[in-house]
Amino acid sequence: MNLSAWNRVAVIAAFAAIAGFGAGCDKLGGGKGKGSGSGSGSSGSSGSSGVAPVADTGPIKIGHYASLTGSEATFGVSTDHGVILAMEERNAAGGVKGRKIELKTLDDASKSSEAGNVVQRLISEDKVVALIGEVASGSSLAGGKVAQQQGVPMISPSSTNKKVTEGRDMVSRVCFLDEFQGYVVAKFAKDQKFDKVAVLFDQAAPYSKGLAETFKTEFEALKGTITTSQAYTAGDPDVSAQLQSIKTSGAQAVFLPGYYTDVGNIVNQARKLGITAPFLGGDGWDSSKLAEIGGAAIEGSYYSNHYSFDEARPEVKDFVSKFEKRWKETPDGLAALGYDAARVLFDAMDKAPSLGGKDLATTIAATKDFPGVTGKITLDANRDAQKQAVVVQMKGGKPRYVATVVPKGWPEPAAATPAGSGSGSAAGSAAAAGSGSATK
Ligand code: PHE
Repeated sequence: MNLSAWNRVAVIAAFAAIAGFGAGCDKLGGGKGKGSGSGSGSSGSSGSSGVAPVADTGPIKIGHYASLTGSEATFGVSTDHGVILAMEERNAAGGVKGRKIELKTLDDASKSSEAGNVVQRLISEDKVVALIGEVASGSSLAGGKVAQQQGVPMISPSSTNKKVTEGRDMVSRVCFLDEFQGYVVAKFAKDQKFDKVAVLFDQAAPYSKGLAETFKTEFEALKGTITTSQAYTAGDPDVSAQLQSIKTSGAQAVFLPGYYTDVGNIVNQARKLGITAPFLGGDGWDSSKLAEIGGAAIEGSYYSNHYSFDEARPEVKDFVSKFEKRWKETPDGLAALGYDAARVLFDAMDKAPSLGGKDLATTIAATKDFPGVTGKITLDANRDAQKQAVVVQMKGGKPRYVATVVPKGWPEPAAATPAGSGSGSAAGSAAAAGSGSATK
């Protein structure tokens, strides 16, 4: 029963060869709970929860846990596409330490309650040496708990809640924090002359709750007024009571730090109730589905994000063209961050003395000046990245680049206006904001 680590890798590799080398087998299987049907079942699980010694021959297995189905499905699918592209490029260039990389992606169905389970499966059944995931902070908190307990390094591409990495030396991330993102939106709102803003947040999501708080702190520090702060829970079909309060509060804009499915639905309800004020959001809006669900109601609204396909930076142009060629779709922020997270991981694997948990985690944590598509990535003492943000505006159903905002003390961002799209005064003011009295 107890296959040695080497044998297990051989079994998995053999399976992978039969199944067709590559990633994401499970995603085609769809539903959660079916995840173990691929590969892992054939290897005769020992049922142990301990971490097997890391094999040093055969393909290097990495795991991705993601929302491939459910209300945040585009987050997981886009991220997976970014990770796969990075892996294919790396394998074509010879892999890592002379070995091919093999990816196993498991679906957590957009449920934080599932995230821990799929991470456990990736570790104990698939014997992955490292994990990528999740997008939603609530899921990264749950998955990160297991990764930490089991001593397997994890990189979140895009979870922005501070607590995700806190006290967990196995866990790092390649994105900025909501402490910065809250500032970005607050400053942008002020620059748009929105002095009175209402807040509507998802009380059950650590991301939404946390970002609502940092926005409030930053906006009030800039002498803005929060007219009212209202709560919903993801999936609530009717938020008209909260929207009525917002309507009568005299808000000039509404900050809605939610995920795209709720955002699209809520904005539609708001317009039906006669709320004409623009909505402002954070990275959780980033989805090709936002325009589909939000329709005309979302047009003109703004959100902050990690990158825009519209940016003029050469690394963005290069990535967008490679990604479009591979996937026939325009990469959103999740795709770019998935690509960056995977490349940071491979870079650390190159440099780490071994692929054992501690060695690899320490090497990831030492990442410095890594040239990501989403900006230069340097991890700080808390294994978080300090990066620039962009503000985009929904126009014609697409998030168009408006401005780049950099953390305090950073050089002024280069004039990043995309070719052919006038950025108007909003860009100027937000870029100036970023280089001004930034506090984060
Ligand atoms: N930052 C969000 C969170 O922490 C996730 C997210 C990132 C969503 C980027 C969309 C784009 O939950």
